[in-house]
Amino acid sequence: MRKLIALPFLVFFTSLFAQDIKIDKGWKFKTGDSPEWSRPTLNDSDWKSIDVGKYWESQGYQGYNGYAWYRIHFIIPSTIKEQAFLKEKIRIDLGKIDDGDEVFLNGFFVGRNAGSNSDITQGPYDATRTYTIPINDRRILWDKENVIAVRVYDGGGDGGMYEGRYGISAADITDYIVINTNDNPFQFADKKVSKKIILQSTSEKYDFTGKLRIEITDPVSGASVFKQTIGTDFAINRPFEYTYKTALPELKSYDINYVFLEDRTKKEIVVKESIPYVLTPVATAAPRINAPGVFGVQPGSPFLFRIPATGEKPLSYEATGLPAGLKLDKSSGIITGSLESKGNFKVKLIVKNKIGSSSKNFTIVCGDNVRLTPALGWNSWNCWGLSVSDEKVRASAKAMLDKLADHGWTYINIDDGWEDKHNEQGQILTNQKFPDMKGLCDYVHSLGLRIGIYSSPGPWTCGHFVGSYKYEEQDAKTYADWGIDYLKYDWCSYGDIAPKQPSLDDFKKPYIVMKEAMRKNKRDILFSLCQYGMGDVWKWGAEIGASSWRTTGDIVDTWTSLSEIGFSQDKSAPYTSPGHFNDPDMLIVGKVGWGPKLHNTRLTPDEQYTHISLWTLLSAPLLIGCDMSQLDEFTLNLLTNDEVLAINQDALAKPAKKIFDKNQVQVWTKELEDGSTAIGIFNLDNKINKQNIDFASLKLSSTLKLRDVWRQKDLGSFTKGYNVSLPAHGVLLLKTASMKR
Ligand code: GLA
Repeated sequence: MRKLIALPFLVFFTSLFAQDIKIDKGWKFKTGDSPEWSRPTLNDSDWKSIDVGKYWESQGYQGYNGYAWYRIHFIIPSTIKEQAFLKEKIRIDLGKIDDGDEVFLNGFFVGRNAGSNSDITQGPYDATRTYTIPINDRRILWDKENVIAVRVYDGGGDGGMYEGRYGISAADITDYIVINTNDNPFQFADKKVSKKIILQSTSEKYDFTGKLRIEITDPVSGASVFKQTIGTDFAINRPFEYTYKTALPELKSYDINYVFLEDRTKKEIVVKESIPYVLTPVATAAPRINAPGVFGVQPGSPFLFRIPATGEKPLSYEATGLPAGLKLDKSSGIITGSLESKGNFKVKLIVKNKIGSSSKNFTIVCGDNVRLTPALGWNSWNCWGLSVSDEKVRASAKAMLDKLADHGWTYINIDDGWEDKHNEQGQILTNQKFPDMKGLCDYVHSLGLRIGIYSSPGPWTCGHFVGSYKYEEQDAKTYADWGIDYLKYDWCSYGDIAPKQPSLDDFKKPYIVMKEAMRKNKRDILFSLCQYGMGDVWKWGAEIGASSWRTTGDIVDTWTSLSEIGFSQDKSAPYTSPGHFNDPDMLIVGKVGWGPKLHNTRLTPDEQYTHISLWTLLSAPLLIGCDMSQLDEFTLNLLTNDEVLAINQDALAKPAKKIFDKNQVQVWTKELEDGSTAIGIFNLDNKINKQNIDFASLKLSSTLKLRDVWRQKDLGSFTKGYNVSLPAHGVLLLKTASMKR
């Protein structure tokens, strides 16, 4: 289970040292617990093989919670010691481990990562494990077989060793060097890309000199397209900054290596990244109203809708056919009020500026379901983790208003970390990071945006803050009084309340209790279930009044996590309907980190296009997980493509279906309200994939007019099939011409 939050983020996490001994393959695994399992002489030949880059849940141990051990045998060559400049310590890197771990080398204890009570049942699951031991320590057997044994405990949800760098190396002065690619974004101007990188020393003792090589290569041909070597000189308070700038031959992603050759040790430190490319055309100066075209509200609930429109400012707004009870502010485009009775109301929204005007049909459905299209918003978890605060939420709301709201983004959701305790009257209090929750809600509403909050049906949340158990009615009332519009309700410690083998009714129970409590207040609160898909929640989420339900464990910013979650959503797809959506977890583009320190997402640019395209097709809630006050040009391009967002917000709310799966290419199609079909063609391979996509195998007509959705460009008419050339882990998102069904 995800409980505690990251230790400080290691900036050099992508660094590679040529001198490392890799221990990423060859691990053995066994569930259970015994002190004998640390012994080097133990015969583990009957233990199962395991991949330490993935949770044990995805490797045949579905639902396993408790103790388990990992073991690996390997030789440590004495050349490691001989080549080291410092000759002080040996470093063992073991990636991230969920929840806690204890590490043994040749039967001797090396270290532990545990919770505050030194009990490994509460480990800092998101911390990168690095253990060091003195280079002359007798625990190390030079030039002989060594055994590392890792004892792990997982309390719930995903568990085990799951990602990172696995290696043995001599800790050296080069460990004090940081190639910082994180603080400055890629910039695009005059058909050139540029970026400032910084070389830093974290040592008070050592200054560094050496050569920095910047190499850009074509990921397909391997050809070098840019190479530069620069002499550098830096110290703790004297960083070396360098901005490179170059034109690139094609509009696609390129690989870039920063290689620093340190003078004293002659060691190379390598940091790799991929150069992004922007596909979304700049929004035109002419006005345009963006999705959605349908909006659900309950009778008697406060109505709040900000018309999302792009175009040169100032814009003025009009609406014809607004039902009694609603009014529009013509300068801000915010519609407020409330509707008394159920019914469908056809409204025409109009937006004007000095260049022209544009209109859009908008249906207000006053009934039992709220919103009707997937939520478009932000959530604090994937960036700030438990370090979220009033200040950060306000900054996010302001950033959403300035950069995203015109494209339809509207929810600002506070995740775990705002709670204090219930007072004597049973009222939930906020902690000191949230001095005035009502004031914060009013502020977000004043921008025409909506605000969300988080709790658990258990006594404690996953981050060990107080939950709603036995206080459901009072909490629901407080949320409504504050003006909350969205509740994420996370199972967490409810696992201790529910029977050990919960029945379907046991899974539903806490969510029904909270839904009933919320029904007592006249407020439209989107109800977002978070229980990681237990009891096939997609089969009953809608029936108990949920707006969305998480279908999986927590996402992290890796391709393994993204692809395993995203491409397995076809099982729950049939259960999506207007106002009720599968939630494959929040977005991992931009600067993420689970707080307080952030890093650039580790997804490549093509993986990020895949992420947004797939979530869009799945009709998934799109909840931005990055720091929106640091949105770079590439991330903005991912989040502001109105044709892409229109597919996600389509009123039919049909989920995408996987229609084709061959040679590492998957095609997912989604029917749209205007009779057209959105088609996502995905390459799951880690190299370029060229294929002819046969329309017959997609169950589509033999001649199709196709539009490239990211580029917003018509491609022409094609018969029988279409040839694609997809980059590694990349996507082509297409739409057929509309044909009213
Ligand atoms: C769980 C959820 C996450 C987040 C954390 C908060 O892990 O799945 O999305 O809400 O709890 O502690």
